[in-house]
Amino acid sequence: MRDLTNRQYYLAFRPDSLPGPEHVPCRDVPVQLPGEGEALLRNIYISLDPAIRGWMSDAHNYIAPIPIGAPVRSTVIGRVIQSNCRSLEEGDVVMAVGGWEQYTTGPAAAMTKLDEHAGIPLSSFLGALGPTGLTALFGLMEVGKPRPGETVLVSAAAGAVGSVVGQIAKMQGCRVVGIAGSEEKCRWIKEDLGFDEAINYKACGDLEAAIRQACPGGVDVYFDNVGGEILDAALLCLNKYARVAVCGWISTYNENGAPGPRNLWQLVAESVTMQGFVVIDYMDRFAEGVDKLAQWLLAGKLQYREEIVDGLDNILPAFLKLFDGSNQGKLIIRIPE
Ligand SMILES: NC(=O)c1ccc[n+]([C@@H]2O[C@H](COP(=O)([O-])OP(=O)(O)OC[C@H]3O[C@@H](n4cnc5c(N)ncnc54)[C@H](OP(=O)(O)O)[C@@H]3O)[C@@H](O)[C@H]2O)c1
Repeated sequence: MRDLTNRQYYLAFRPDSLPGPEHVPCRDVPVQLPGEGEALLRNIYISLDPAIRGWMSDAHNYIAPIPIGAPVRSTVIGRVIQSNCRSLEEGDVVMAVGGWEQYTTGPAAAMTKLDEHAGIPLSSFLGALGPTGLTALFGLMEVGKPRPGETVLVSAAAGAVGSVVGQIAKMQGCRVVGIAGSEEKCRWIKEDLGFDEAINYKACGDLEAAIRQACPGGVDVYFDNVGGEILDAALLCLNKYARVAVCGWISTYNENGAPGPRNLWQLVAESVTMQGFVVIDYMDRFAEGVDKLAQWLLAGKLQYREEIVDGLDNILPAFLKLFDGSNQGKLIIRIPE
């Protein structure tokens, strides 16, 4: 182990807009051997999430910014290759907070052991059966609180979180309308996932008019993944006592000083509740959530798409796909074992 080299992509300085190779360069360093109570992982999958862009900035957030000089932070799935603790053995596969790197060393207490023989692809523990599926489940059910017959509108609807939100809302007996950025994405959510309507926000012209047409009875729950102009249009279409679940504002992540929403007065006009959340608010219910998502998945009630990109050296161009919309579902880097 002592001779192993760890390739890492680290944060050299903080980007003001889209990160480039100058912000996230590469280095080869000796692998850090595990201390007492720690394990060393060879990473197999690295999750690429929009939130990582937020952690690259030093603005106040729900977790600390990535320190300058540290590997870019990501959730990883890795195989234990050296263990210095009782709970993990060599060969175990775990999920952990790691980085854009080949090897991660960390405390075993913060690693979750996964069953690689459960008949479920390991990568799905980062997506539909992992943080993104749990975000959709708890954000929709606990914050959006949909009731049968209500209309649920979701943005980034063909993405990792949004596509699961729409399918769960359908299971609750809701009318579901998705907003997405291409005809292909709109076709997928309508024809394969069973959304009632889909709006291509890049081609529809007047978005408020398009939402009104797709939601003739108004919107009862808006699950917001993007913020910006789409949020502003959605605010104008809310019903009395509607709920806005603020999951993410990806349209602002690369824009320093992006303007805030203009139509927040609608919260007063329609007695609306708008609530932000992070999935870790529900950490003590993750096991319950994974069970539920797994049941739906195994029963064929929940579909998902993953885009798996091979090779650590492709990690930055792959990450940028989240911001031009060219990712097809949950975006993951694979480092072949
Ligand atoms: N609160 C939480 O705990 C939590 C947890 C996970 C994720 N999130 C948030 O959930 C949202 C979705 O994350 P995800 O992992 O599921 O990613 P994703 O939806 O799979 O990918 C991001 C998508 O966002 C859309 N997008 C990018 N830039 C945009 C812009 N300027 N305007 C409108 N849409 C834009 C693109 O889809 P189109 O082609 O449709 O434009 C892109 O494919 C993000 O805001 C993320 O930060 C929050």
